[in-house]
Amino acid sequence: MAAAAVTGPDPLRLVVLVSGSGTNLQAVLDAADAPVRVVAVGADRDGTGGLERAAARGLPTFVCRVPDFAVRAAWDEALARLVLDHAPDLVVSAGFMRILGPAVLDAVRVVNTHPALLPSFPGAHAVRDALAHGVRVTGCTCHWVDAGVDTGPIIDQRAVRVEPGDTEDTLHERIKVAEREMLVDVLTALAEDRSWR
Ligand code: GRF
Repeated sequence: MAAAAVTGPDPLRLVVLVSGSGTNLQAVLDAADAPVRVVAVGADRDGTGGLERAAARGLPTFVCRVPDFAVRAAWDEALARLVLDHAPDLVVSAGFMRILGPAVLDAVRVVNTHPALLPSFPGAHAVRDALAHGVRVTGCTCHWVDAGVDTGPIIDQRAVRVEPGDTEDTLHERIKVAEREMLVDVLTALAEDRSWR
């Protein structure tokens, strides 16, 4: 008698939100062994590298631009509808440079990746701020998203040393190497233990 195939749980369905080049998204797309599946990629602007990476994989994409809405709440509600259309188990904010509102956050759990060791240096200029402060060690954080700016419960962190002569760009590039690895590890762990749902 043939042995029954051993199968795990269904892959975790992810909607990934991006604003930039999308290298974190690419790391998730390339993580063939991770029990996750990117079902759609959304952006808050046209023409981002992240959308191109998604299209190259034949993935559904959507754009939801804040300036296209009269009020912020309408943008939040439109984004929630676009996200929920893909029935995600989890939303990943991977370089998405917008604060999510209650329509999204009350409907689905969201994780964010941030290029600093929170709670130090929240906000949009984390790498610049850490460098300006003169820290010798910085890094990246993956956390649950709540209504605040980079304030939600921390899931994982990786440390990165600041090297003499580092600029914002050189430091950010080294942080992003650690960040991509951390994100894949976190998503794998969340897929394997779904008690957070
Ligand atoms: C990451 O460092 C993310 O934490 C920050 O912007 C960067 C996005 O990089 N908010 P990419 O678009 O994934 O390459």
